[in-house]
Amino acid sequence: MRLVLFGPPGAGKGTQATALSERYGIPHISTGDIFRANVGNDTELGREAKQYMDRGDLVPDEVVIAMVDERLGQDDAGDGFLLDGYPRTLAQVEALDKTVAQHGSQLDGVIRLLVDDEELMSRLLRRAEEQGRSDDTREVIASRIETYKDETEPTVAQYRERGILYDVDGEGDVDEVRSRVLDAAARAGAEAS
Ligand code: AP5
Repeated sequence: MRLVLFGPPGAGKGTQATALSERYGIPHISTGDIFRANVGNDTELGREAKQYMDRGDLVPDEVVIAMVDERLGQDDAGDGFLLDGYPRTLAQVEALDKTVAQHGSQLDGVIRLLVDDEELMSRLLRRAEEQGRSDDTREVIASRIETYKDETEPTVAQYRERGILYDVDGEGDVDEVRSRVLDAAARAGAEAS
């Protein structure tokens, strides 16, 4: 299975990724997690990405695309993957199409989590208290939501046109959302085969 988990900051992409990744035995590839690991290790990539992340802006396409291409070329992603937080721009959509086609395959489904703005803000402010992630301040969260609406959300039209977009209500208990996400993935798998 080749899946994308799509949705605004705080929609629950990371939370729901574990069940999907376990169900299909595919690696969970989160661009945000890769950047945070690099920030933590103070690598050159981490230092560059941090400037953008701390403002709630997107890291430039060329940096992200090269990083994901490299990751998708690793052995564990050969038979499938779950991308979380990628693609987020039209250039990333096109780059992913190209990479997947080079591997002789195609995306099976894009699962979009739908959550109201107020709920997103309250989830991320709660996480700020629990974990202190540096981009979880009220101002940066608002900017991340804005960036999602301006740059990322419009790209979903591409997937809708291809008939591989699965919208899922991302509100309610984590367990309830999980079962909706797993249902959506099962439909994607059935329609792809
Ligand atoms: P990234 O780490 O991807 O952040 P994000 O998209 O803002 O997403 P979050 O991790 O905040 O939210 P999530 O949807 O994963 O929700 P989660 O499960 O954590 O990216 C960070 C930055 O990196 C970007 O701003 C950008 O700068 C850069 N970047 C990354 N990818 C890039 C790309 N492709 N191109 C360019 N730049 C890129 O849940 C959030 C909270 O809600 C948690 O506390 C969780 O416990 C809680 N929660 C989850 N589900 C529920 C529920 N059902 N009910 C109540 N609470 C819930």
